[in-house]
Amino acid sequence: DERGRRVFDLLARDGRRDFRGDGRLTRTAGFNGDFLGPTLRAKRGEEVVVNVVNRLTEETNVHWHGMHLPARMDGGPHQLVRPGATWSPTWRVDQPAATLWYHPHPHGRTEEHVYRGLAGMFILDDDREAALPLPRRYGVDDIPVIVQDRSFSRSGQFRKTRNMISSIGVLGDTLLVNGTVAPYLDVRTERVRLRLLNGSTARTYDFGFADDRAFALIATDGGLLDRTARLHRVRLSPGERAEIVVDVRPGERTTLRSFPPDLGADALSRRFAGGVDRFDVLQLRAASTLADAPPVPDALVPPDRLDPAAAATTRSFVLSGRTINDRSMDMGRIDAAVTRGSTEIWEVVNRDGTPHNFHVHDVQFQVLSVDGGAPPPELSGWKDTIFLPPHRPVRLIMQFTDHSDPDMPYMFHCHLLWHEDAGMMGQFVVV
Ligand code: C2O
Ligand code: CU
Ligand code: CU
Repeated sequence: DERGRRVFDLLARDGRRDFRGDGRLTRTAGFNGDFLGPTLRAKRGEEVVVNVVNRLTEETNVHWHGMHLPARMDGGPHQLVRPGATWSPTWRVDQPAATLWYHPHPHGRTEEHVYRGLAGMFILDDDREAALPLPRRYGVDDIPVIVQDRSFSRSGQFRKTRNMISSIGVLGDTLLVNGTVAPYLDVRTERVRLRLLNGSTARTYDFGFADDRAFALIATDGGLLDRTARLHRVRLSPGERAEIVVDVRPGERTTLRSFPPDLGADALSRRFAGGVDRFDVLQLRAASTLADAPPVPDALVPPDRLDPAAAATTRSFVLSGRTINDRSMDMGRIDAAVTRGSTEIWEVVNRDGTPHNFHVHDVQFQVLSVDGGAPPPELSGWKDTIFLPPHRPVRLIMQFTDHSDPDMPYMFHCHLLWHEDAGMMGQFVVV
């Protein structure tokens, strides 16, 4: 409305969808529809109200992954919505343009709810992004690409069986992009921006193009990079995002793929963690004449680095088994209290032989180092989730600018949802 308020309705409900066109209806769940949910969009400075209506037969909730907001609005495990009830969190958008997302977060049930289809994209805009010559016509040259893997039973139901040897969770053999099997995109402009979201519960992808063409990486989880990175591949573990811009030529077809990702694991666990799998993700079909598009600039936003010398506290997080620092999630225990306004360094390491990742609520962080070295371009910007190959410590720096609440925690956890549900999560308050 004219006061700069955005009001959204998200109705969680059961659904059915014929994913493969063979008449078999898969039981699903979605927001406002049968599978996934609408893309929500708001601009920096606007106030957001979301009316979350639970039409499921069990409790659920909605977490705004990547959003900086008060803990009571965060949609973590403490903000459950009973069947039939409505929850209406509200907050002011106070962070740069970015590709965020939303999904349920009921403790112990997150994997199940996301797997059934409860997730969606949340795009944030700001003036700085709007001033750059980037593709931004939603659905025309600016495309959400939510990538998820599923398997289907004979009767067409999602088959959520874990390989006995796999310790990372359910890996599907079929990819869905925005809920579509074997998708293609008609491209009518010389350049197209893809907002890649790994919305899978366990699988890590290494995105690139079938012909190995370079693309421009312009943004990561929390928004635009300082400088465009020209890459051939970008690896995304569950929950991570990347915005890429790819050039196409008139009349051509090219395919976005996922190549076998380097999981940093030994051969056996690599195989059972999806490290040898490849998929076609999305075919791009260019029209015979394409509308002009300006080249992607090298400089995007002014560098804005958090200063390690300003960090008052360094914390250490060791992930192993289904624990963080040998502790399993306890909703009644606060694992860390951080001071409002403070900058902290978090050192995080995976002590297992198989992959994990690490996600922090409320803040976007910067990566100071990966295994003691400088971070690669895809880890040079704002992040809220980072892949953790075995035994390679990362140092993260983050600032807790506001929103103190001693009574309501935010979460940090592994975003492999089976692990998260099994207790690989902890709670922090900002005081
Ligand atoms: Cu995307 Cu705590 O989650
Ligand atoms: Cu989150
Ligand atoms: Cu994990």
